[in-house]
Amino acid sequence: MFRSEVYTKRRSGLHKLMKSGIGLFIGNTDSPMNYPANPYHFRQDSDFLYYFGLDLQGLTGLMDFDSGKDWIFGNEFDLDDIIWMGPQPSVKELAEKCGVVNTAPLAKLEAVIRDALSKKRKIHFLPPYRAENKISLGKLLENNPCELKAKASAELIKAVISMRSIKEAVEIEEIEKAVAITWEMHVTAMKMCKPGIREQEIFGTIEGIALAHGGGCSFPVILSINGQTLHNHDHSNILQRGRMMVTDAGAETNLHYSADITRTTPVGGKFSQKQKEIYEIVLNANTSAINAARPGISNKDLHLNACKVIAGSLKELGLMKGDTAEAVNAGAHALFMPHGLGHMMGLDVHDMEALGEDYIGYNEKVKRSDQFGLAFLRFALPYQPGHVFTVEPGIYFIPQLIDKWRAEGKFTEFINYSKVEKLKDFGGVRIEDNVLITEKGHKLLGKPIPKTVADIEAVCSK
Ligand code: GLY
Repeated sequence: MFRSEVYTKRRSGLHKLMKSGIGLFIGNTDSPMNYPANPYHFRQDSDFLYYFGLDLQGLTGLMDFDSGKDWIFGNEFDLDDIIWMGPQPSVKELAEKCGVVNTAPLAKLEAVIRDALSKKRKIHFLPPYRAENKISLGKLLENNPCELKAKASAELIKAVISMRSIKEAVEIEEIEKAVAITWEMHVTAMKMCKPGIREQEIFGTIEGIALAHGGGCSFPVILSINGQTLHNHDHSNILQRGRMMVTDAGAETNLHYSADITRTTPVGGKFSQKQKEIYEIVLNANTSAINAARPGISNKDLHLNACKVIAGSLKELGLMKGDTAEAVNAGAHALFMPHGLGHMMGLDVHDMEALGEDYIGYNEKVKRSDQFGLAFLRFALPYQPGHVFTVEPGIYFIPQLIDKWRAEGKFTEFINYSKVEKLKDFGGVRIEDNVLITEKGHKLLGKPIPKTVADIEAVCSK
C-alpha cells in the first residue's frame, strides 16, 4: 500500500466533488474456481484500491458525503481463520492503514443502508461487474441485481474518472515498475522465439516472470504466430520460420498498477524483406504518434494520424491506392488496422473500463463514431497532463475480413485486393508502448524495450 495520507487525500478530493449522499465501494470477494474453497487468484476492485488501498477480500468502504465520515465495514477473522491462515490484523488495524477511523462488522452496513434508504438519502455506487458483488449490492439496496449496472450513479462515475484519469507521481512510479517487469517478459520472449518451440512454453515463462516480480499479468497474455487475430489467447502452435510472433503482454505491480506492451518478433530472429517492410510502417506509425503526443491534441487525432501513416505507406507498397486522406476518412484502412490506437492505463490495464468506456473517452460534445474501426477507439478526447496511454498501431491481414470485403466489393477504389490476397498468410504486426502526457509533451514510460528491426534482431541473436 501507499502511505495512508495518499488514500486520505484521494477521499477528501472525492468528498469535495460529491455534494451529498453516501458513496458505497464494495470490495471484491474470493471467487470460486471449481469448488468454494479453491478460488481464482484474488484481484481487488480497482476503485476500492484507489480510495482504500486494502488488498483483502470481504471489505466495503463507505463515504458519507454529508457528514464527511469514512467507514470500513468488514468481519473480524476468527480462530478457525487464524488456524488455516496464520495471525491476521483486526479490521481497525487495516482501516488505519488507509487513514479510516470508523469500522464496523458487515452486518452493521445493512443497518446503515436501511436507515439511509428509509430517509430517502441518495446512495451512490459504481457499476458492479462481478456476480458476487451484484448479489451483495442487490441485497443491500433491495434491488434486482441484474438491473444495478444501469442504476449506478453517473455523478460518482464522473467524479471518480476525473480523479483516476490524472496520475499522481506515486502512480507513475508504480507504472514504471510494471514496465520494468514487462521489459524482462518481452526480452525473454524475443530470445525464446525460435523454430520448434511451442507458444505455450514462452507464454508460461513470461507469465512466471510477471508473478516472480509483481502481482502477475495485467491481462491474459496474447501471444501467437497468428497475430492477425487481435486478442489471440490460443498458445498451442509450434513456432515456424517465416512467421512472426505477436506478444502483447504486461505485468501488474504488487500494488496492481499495469503495463501493456506489444512486440512482434520474427521466428528465428531475422525479418524477411516483406516482414521488414510491413514492420517498418507500423514502427513509423508508433514513433510518430508517440512524438506527437502532448496536451491538447486528442487521442482521436493521434489515431487518425497513425491511420494515415499506415494507409500512405501501404499505398507505396501497392496494397492501397487513391487519395490517402479520403481512404482514411472513409475507413478503408480499417481492413488492415481495425482497432483504436490506444487506451488509458493505470490500476486497470484498460483503465476504469468497468465504469463505462463512453464516460471515460467521450462526452456530450465528442460522440463515438459508428464507422467500422473507428468505433473501437476507446478514447477520443484531448490529452491532459497526467494521462497515461498505450500507443499501439498495427497492421493485420485477416483472411476472413479480406474475403468478406472483397466479395462485397468494398472500397475497391482504395484497396488493391489482388495484391492483398497474396498476403493472406502474413499474420500481423503490432507495436505498443506506454506513454505519460506531461505539461509540455510526453514521456515514454519505463526502460525502452527493443523495437527497431536491428534491436530485435540483436536481442534474438543472443
Ligand atoms: N493489450 C491488450 C489490450 O489492449 O486489450
